[in-house]
Amino acid sequence: MKVIIGGRRRHYRTVEFDARRNEVLLIDQRLLPHQFKVVRISDFQATARAIRDMVVRGAGAIGATAAFGLAQGVRAFKGRNLALFQRHENKVYEALKSARPTAVDPVNAMNQVRAVMEQGSSVAEKQKLALAAAERFAEEDVEHCRAIGVHGAKLIREGARILTHCNAGWLAFVDVGSATAPIYAAQEQGRQFHVFCDETRPRSQGATLTAWELSQQGVSHQIIADNAAGHLMQRGEIDLVIVGSDRTLGRTGEVANKIGTYTKAVLASRHKIPFYVAIPLSTIDWNLKNGFAIPIEERGGEEVLGAWGVNRRGQREYLRVANPGSGARNPGFDVTPAELITGIITPAGIFKPRELWRRRKKLGFTH
Ligand code: MRU
Repeated sequence: MKVIIGGRRRHYRTVEFDARRNEVLLIDQRLLPHQFKVVRISDFQATARAIRDMVVRGAGAIGATAAFGLAQGVRAFKGRNLALFQRHENKVYEALKSARPTAVDPVNAMNQVRAVMEQGSSVAEKQKLALAAAERFAEEDVEHCRAIGVHGAKLIREGARILTHCNAGWLAFVDVGSATAPIYAAQEQGRQFHVFCDETRPRSQGATLTAWELSQQGVSHQIIADNAAGHLMQRGEIDLVIVGSDRTLGRTGEVANKIGTYTKAVLASRHKIPFYVAIPLSTIDWNLKNGFAIPIEERGGEEVLGAWGVNRRGQREYLRVANPGSGARNPGFDVTPAELITGIITPAGIFKPRELWRRRKKLGFTH
């Protein structure tokens, strides 16, 4: 996406790789919208930490980061012994996989890279194939998001008022975004509409990241408190909901997404408002048979008990808001059942959630 930084308009991707220096380049999303900074990460352990600490976040973006992190890790291996190389590869894979548990994209991305690496018969060949496969994954992520835009733009009519939750924008992918792809495509087609960004407590990805993205792209929008959506729906002020997903079950159509998504789906169903989920194919989990089996990340209580912002001097600061002696519970994601979802917008078209399994060949299921 093109963004204006220091008065200059430039195209950025959320995740890039410098092959010469074997470094992963990430926009540090913890600093947005107050500061735009690209960081260079020089080894796979640091790349895993960047995923865990949410320097980079969002399903597709951590998928691409894991793919590049795997390539980065195996490219750093010295020697020709294939057994030792395999052991090292497993270590890199596990470090990146365990960084964030709910999103399936990192696992799907790394499995894709590993499948390609198997075609190599020497360490050097496998290292080369790993990089090519990671680059391919990143390109595919962009292509998938653009295709989501083509299918999803039809849902946005002139004057529509759209609600989105968290950030499933270009910052959550390599570029374009999933939930934002139909929005950007409809904008290109010249339509006028308005987006309500759920603030998305506790980390406020809607208020910080989605709102920043939409301002950069010139999309009309307002931030609302998470609790305001029901009121707006009741008054007829929301026509359509589009969200992303961190893991969508291909067998059942259940959708794991940022905490609060389920609440919005219940409200949308009550008010008969179409509720869509936009995903690239790397977000589909074809294995799990039930939404309760999805690992839900439990995060630190400090996210609920306070908030990060900038003070008057422009310095980043954490402020405690809650009662000093109280603790908090902080599940990062929830699971929305298939019957609350109007449709899943994929690069291959829009499907009913329970249609995914029947259409699995078209949706890239290969076993
Ligand atoms: O915890 P995060 O910020 O990595 O959560 C991911 C998300 O931003 C959302 O759940 C999003 O809606 C889906 S990711 C495309």
